[in-house]
Amino acid sequence: MSARIIDGAALGLRIRERVAAGVAEMLDAGRRPPGLGVVLVGDDPASAVYVRNKTAACEQARMHSVQVNLPADAGQARVLAAVGELNRDRRIDGILVQLPLPAGLDADAVIAAIDPGKDVDGLHPENAGRLALGRPLVVPCTPAGVMEALRDEEVELRGAEAVVVGRSNIVGRPMAQLLLLADATVTVCHSRTRDLGEVTRRADVLIAAVGHAGLITGAMVKPGATVIDVGMNRLPPAEPGAKGRLVGDVDRESVEPVAGRLTPVPRGVGPLTIAMLLSNTLEAARRHQAG
Ligand code: GUN
Repeated sequence: MSARIIDGAALGLRIRERVAAGVAEMLDAGRRPPGLGVVLVGDDPASAVYVRNKTAACEQARMHSVQVNLPADAGQARVLAAVGELNRDRRIDGILVQLPLPAGLDADAVIAAIDPGKDVDGLHPENAGRLALGRPLVVPCTPAGVMEALRDEEVELRGAEAVVVGRSNIVGRPMAQLLLLADATVTVCHSRTRDLGEVTRRADVLIAAVGHAGLITGAMVKPGATVIDVGMNRLPPAEPGAKGRLVGDVDRESVEPVAGRLTPVPRGVGPLTIAMLLSNTLEAARRHQAG
């Protein structure tokens, strides 16, 4: 048997078309377009690429977008001031501060400064708390995208054994909350988990989100399981100056013959994250313009 490969790029495109149709409807009704403000601090090349892709996707969907670039040594006060300005800007419905922030900046304080109604990353304590209480308003984009993929694939979650590897605020924790809301039996594993393989082998649905290339091997996967690979790891380049290959947390070679379904890297979860950012921004705009 060989796993069915889940096409995240195709699903991401379908979600983006749905969002673009929602934006067109707003514009046709004479309303202003949804607006996204992105704050990029420092010059990390990977972050710059992510941010460029996010703003390009916004423009494709005919949304308004603003990008604020600050130098790595901008300091906490300037970053907070940029967030405050976007909070007050009435054309902006969603705010995203690209993470990780350069060393020396307090990311928690920056996230807490975002207006929770504009927090399209779903990372503000109010939104994280709402999700933990089972009453989500805005859900972080990557786990929301994973849920879309599971729904699209008609994966049964009620009563299923779901195992999440990783406990980050941006993926692992909200992922576990969403699976719990879908009535799965959820286990969260992390770097101190005693026997990782013993736990992951129980999973009907296995989510790998740790940032460790090839951590999940075929021997750690239950036959027929749905395996979602959230990892984005850049391998060292084969020759100096070249770009290293992008791989996930799942060792595709050994997992593909065992799993029932598998998301690839790239073209798996990545495109879903951007699609859900646009979806969250459209929803925020609808809330802001309601009534
Ligand atoms: N860095 C990597 N992924 C993300 C994301 O989803 N949101 C933000 N703000 N930063 C990120």
